[in-house]
Amino acid sequence: MKDNQQEMFPIVDEEGTVTGKATRGECHCGSRLLHPVVHLHVFNSAGDVYLQKRPEWKDIQPGKWDTAVGGHLDYGETPEEALRREVGEELGMTDFEPQFIGKYVFDSKRERELVYVNRTTYDGEISPSKDELDGGRFWTMQEIRESMGQNVLTPNFEREFQQFFLDKIDKYDLLTKQIGGLIEGERDSVAVMANVCAAIHETMGFWWTGFYRVVNDELVLGPFQGPVACMHISFGKGVCGTAWRERRTIVVPDVELFPGHIACSSLSRSEIVVPVLSEGGHVVAVLDIDSKALSAFDDIDRRYLEGICMMLSPLF
Ligand code: SME
Repeated sequence: MKDNQQEMFPIVDEEGTVTGKATRGECHCGSRLLHPVVHLHVFNSAGDVYLQKRPEWKDIQPGKWDTAVGGHLDYGETPEEALRREVGEELGMTDFEPQFIGKYVFDSKRERELVYVNRTTYDGEISPSKDELDGGRFWTMQEIRESMGQNVLTPNFEREFQQFFLDKIDKYDLLTKQIGGLIEGERDSVAVMANVCAAIHETMGFWWTGFYRVVNDELVLGPFQGPVACMHISFGKGVCGTAWRERRTIVVPDVELFPGHIACSSLSRSEIVVPVLSEGGHVVAVLDIDSKALSAFDDIDRRYLEGICMMLSPLF
């Protein structure tokens, strides 16, 4: 098999606005024409990452392990349409929820791509295309780390995965250790919440990080970092009150799409709220974090922040 050099790709500016079109051949000959591609990183609920093996006939990086799905936008397609088409063609997945996490320009001697990076959590069946791939499998984070720089993974995957996932995981690992130290031997829950939100805020660079405590029948503002915020939230109201009522973490990729979201600041675009449970299993507080970016929070944040909140349980 071979790629069709006559396929028509859109040419875009760095924002993704289409400014023209060109063939695959014209885009891949060192012309530096910026053309859009979509990537999907597939995680399972255990946090392992699915990689595809590139076939030997590929003109770029044959035989290397690569991002689960990658593909060009056809002329006239949106990134989301291209993603669904490519994921269906390459892995046979149709029932997945993509989360867009950012875009960047990838520059090499041969081509210039505007990469739309997406992730998803998926535990269903994956059927890698026999025509387009040499198979695929889930890798643990440990395996991926050990394979970095060993000529096993594509350089593009290594860079992108480091930037979008491993840097964040490394920060959370350090943060979790630091919080373990802060909590040790301390009994005052307000002092601990104050230092925990300061540590999270400083390390991760969020826009607003704080606790609301359950006081009688409402949430009352507790220790926080960031701009002033609303002080009282009723049971079941907003993201915080919903996380309390449903006793579960809520990730909101776009606050404007969450019915009843309470806007303490118009700059907040996405949010995560994690309940803090007492040792007896009662919700005693919620950890609320806001970002100025859309879709800033994913399963990595959820898992680590839930871990941190569990560390607080013995204080209540
Ligand atoms: N947005 C939250 C309210 C708290 S502020 O974000 C700090 C909510 O909807 O519950």
